[in-house]
Amino acid sequence: MEIFLRFDLENIDWKSVCEIFEKAPLGTRDPVKLMIASENSAVVCFAWDSNRIIGFGRALSDGVTCAAIYDLCLLPEYQSKGIGRLIMNGILEKLQNQNVILYAVPGKQGFYEKLGFKTMLTAMGSFIDMEKMKQMNYISKD
Ligand SMILES: CC(C)(COP(=O)(O)OP(=O)(O)OC[C@H]1O[C@@H](n2cnc3c(N)ncnc32)[C@H](O)[C@@H]1OP(=O)(O)O)[C@@H](O)C(=O)NCCC(=O)NCCS
Repeated sequence: MEIFLRFDLENIDWKSVCEIFEKAPLGTRDPVKLMIASENSAVVCFAWDSNRIIGFGRALSDGVTCAAIYDLCLLPEYQSKGIGRLIMNGILEKLQNQNVILYAVPGKQGFYEKLGFKTMLTAMGSFIDMEKMKQMNYISKD
């Protein structure tokens, strides 16, 4: 297994990237929306195992001061092998000198703590589906 990172959008099979989300699991994604979201992202990172994409992550950024990381996921058989950290470090390298925020899937905070992230005390969010975010324990139920 020789994993390498790529940051370009050439020859991406978006349906197979959406399958990573489903299998990870990180929910379902629409391939066209994911492609547009990626095209509009400042950094998009794919982890490849020879000719197969096995991991993904992306970041929004203003290019100079602040950024937000989203959609980090790996196929299950590639998890717990250091590849998540590899993708994060690859993205963070492109966001140097910027404040970086993200929200962790409940239970994954420890992964981000190992990368130096701290829990934010005043993080706030306005979400399209507030009820779903409550059920998934991203926001408080009250
Ligand atoms: C979360 C995810 C990206 C982490 O990637 P990974 O390749 O499995 O993690 P790594 O092997 O790089 O782990 C790096 C370190 O974090 C630790 N770690 C990983 N997951 C952790 C967790 N849930 N809690 C605490 N520590 C964790 C590892 O033990 C490792 O520690 P070490 O440096 O002491 O060895 C991956 O497991 C995944 O795709 N999960 C499903 C989708 C998901 O939840 N994505 C996160 C969205 S916020």
